[in-house]
Amino acid sequence: MEKMPLEKTSNSAKWRFLITYGICTVFGLTMYILVLVWNTHFRGGFAWTSDIMLMMNWHPVLLILGLSVFYSQSILVFRLGRNFPKKILKLIHMSLNLIAFILSVIGLKAAFNMRTATGEQHLYSLHSWIGFLTVLFFAAQFAFGFVTYLYPGLPASIRAASMPVHRAGGKAIFLMGLVATATGLMTKASMVLPNYSEMSSEAYVVNFIALFLVVFSGLALYLVNAPAYRRIPLPND
Ligand code: HEM
Repeated sequence: MEKMPLEKTSNSAKWRFLITYGICTVFGLTMYILVLVWNTHFRGGFAWTSDIMLMMNWHPVLLILGLSVFYSQSILVFRLGRNFPKKILKLIHMSLNLIAFILSVIGLKAAFNMRTATGEQHLYSLHSWIGFLTVLFFAAQFAFGFVTYLYPGLPASIRAASMPVHRAGGKAIFLMGLVATATGLMTKASMVLPNYSEMSSEAYVVNFIALFLVVFSGLALYLVNAPAYRRIPLPND
């Protein structure tokens, strides 16, 4: 069989990557616009302490922004910026994760405040268990990654040995975020859509958020996983 020149193979892979990334971004942006439309147009917008229910609207808006939008870009950064030095990519990866974490904590605070204000039990639902564990694992992964790869940085042998665990852990937490969001959407829909089966326009918006999110997350995970798109180390990395 005739071998393809390396340059040509990587060039076609580059285009396939960019096209798939473009489609992934269209799904992600549409999903997030729907999240904003849902919470502003259908759920009344935002407030903090002045209105508990409007404060709760920050919860999905910030958690989806953090754990889906920012997190997806953070795990894709090594493939998107393949010609940048690894040091810079590590800093961008860390910064995007830090933003995702801060957004998630504020989003969680909104839900905890709402539960406290209504006098309800904390952390009893399946959604709250999965969601809370997702953010906990995210924090642990962040701390472990920071110490191992950034500061102070562990010896190269430990860094190399722990990299497969870091990669697998990162993808598993991304998937957990997807499950947390799906169960969150179902929980909220069962609370605010008593006539869900009548398929109001709000019901369509909620269902389409989930559908677009699944396609967006699936494509992001595909791009992260496919060996053809892995970053080839630069000479002075
Ligand atoms: C990755 C994203 C998410 C995480 C990590 C997460 C996490 C949590 C946690 C920990 C609680 C419990 C708060 C408490 O008991 O005091 C909670 C509550 C809640 N979340 Fe989320 N959430 C996420 C996304 C969503 C989304 C997208 C929605 C959809 C609107 C949503 C709707 C709700 C609702 C309605 C509650 C109160 C009912 C309950 O405790 O199950 N969540 N969330």
